[in-house]
Amino acid sequence: MRFHILTLFPEMVLQGLSTSILGRAREKGLLSFDAVNIRDFTQDKHGRVDDYPYGGGAGMLMQAQPVYDAWRSAVSGCASDRPVRVIYLTPQGKVFDQKLARELAQEEELVFVCGHYEGVDERVLEEIVTDRVSIGDYVLTGGELAAMVMIDAISRMVPGVLNNGESGETESFHENLLEYPQYTRPELWRGRRVPPVLLSGDHAKVDAWRLEQSVERTKRWRPDLYEGYDLPGRALAYLLRDRLFHMDMIEDIRRGQAEVLTVREDGVIIRDVPTGICMITAETKDAGERLLSCVGTETEVFACHQDFVMESVAARFRKSCVNECFQAVYTRRQPFPEEELCGIRPLTEAGLEPVSAYDDLYARKELRAALRGGAVFGAFVPKESVSPQEEDAALRKERVLPPERCVGLIGTHEEGGMGFLHVLEPYRRRGIAAALEKFLINRTLEKGWTPYGQIFPENEASLRLQEKLGLKLCKRRIYWIS
Ligand code: ADE
Repeated sequence: MRFHILTLFPEMVLQGLSTSILGRAREKGLLSFDAVNIRDFTQDKHGRVDDYPYGGGAGMLMQAQPVYDAWRSAVSGCASDRPVRVIYLTPQGKVFDQKLARELAQEEELVFVCGHYEGVDERVLEEIVTDRVSIGDYVLTGGELAAMVMIDAISRMVPGVLNNGESGETESFHENLLEYPQYTRPELWRGRRVPPVLLSGDHAKVDAWRLEQSVERTKRWRPDLYEGYDLPGRALAYLLRDRLFHMDMIEDIRRGQAEVLTVREDGVIIRDVPTGICMITAETKDAGERLLSCVGTETEVFACHQDFVMESVAARFRKSCVNECFQAVYTRRQPFPEEELCGIRPLTEAGLEPVSAYDDLYARKELRAALRGGAVFGAFVPKESVSPQEEDAALRKERVLPPERCVGLIGTHEEGGMGFLHVLEPYRRRGIAAALEKFLINRTLEKGWTPYGQIFPENEASLRLQEKLGLKLCKRRIYWIS
């Protein structure tokens, strides 16, 4: 990897980067450092590169022209076919962290611009800089030390720079955790023993102990980092305390379609990525408010697990349309025996019969999305009779009437719950709804998922069906608000 550093103090930078691990990596040809002296590019006969700021104020500014020419000289020799990222070191930039180090280590070349004096003429920064980066909330006398800090952190992520290939991964900040404590000989020092587990020779136990230490340290010393650690795992641990009530959120995470936004000791908020729906559960109104503070106004639909959260959503996001549901979960693992009652096949938008009984369902954009996603199944029975109108219409269009009709349907909502269950009136009470739901439960189990659905409390037929099929019902309400 090649670093170009534009600076007024090239010797300072080169000296700092020539020792220890980076010096060795340079000798091995893994890294190279090109310190470009900005002063070499001045057009001033006295060698000046700074001037007074327009509008007055303390100190001097670096002029645009020498910085610009130094940059042109640095990038003129770049082999890369895409533009090289140019980093300006400034306390006003985005704060540097391990994630950015990892990202920048993917580049083949980088240019660093080190300011001095009170700063650099804004116009050249606008012209050449791609990233403004700070190494922390304090002010240094120039960008050189900051550039060296960044180059050090980036270089150690470059393959081969560290001897032990593993250590770039496992050290502090990997997965938002601080590193565990380490010990070397002697076993006993000033009355302090090395933790016995490290002498046990049991690698699994050592790994578990180290992870526990990392988690504990991060919680205690860097609660800000801990907030971002293993969000899905921590969210699941919370939600599983009330499994039936939270199955919608649990499944969204397990199926890999959730972005976990925040996990607190008293609540969780996630976003279903395909639909943008936010699902939220909280123990108090205050916890709910805090969780909602990370959600933007673009969110259209919320599934709230408490009425007070629903009220907060209504007030904060000006939403008023509320639907209440119970949640039913199929907690067993065994599928139902396949039945021959009717043919059940995937349904497409074209396959949905244009019967008025389906109009309300079809008006719902969720159903159309599920149809397009191949997530809807129809129950087909042989056509018993054809009305004269149907026959007429078919003859006029020289079309053959299909031998079957679709008399019911069921599907999986994009966010994961079973739904859309509907059977045409003349075909009810024949077990078609049960056959459809059994079929969908079996398909859901095949994917390794837990089948669940949400039912309106007034839909007694559906509640009875869930009971008959052995689903467990949670009678705490979920409030959909949009
Ligand atoms: N230049 C001066 N202070 C700085 C800081 N904190 N980070 C990056 N560059 C700087």
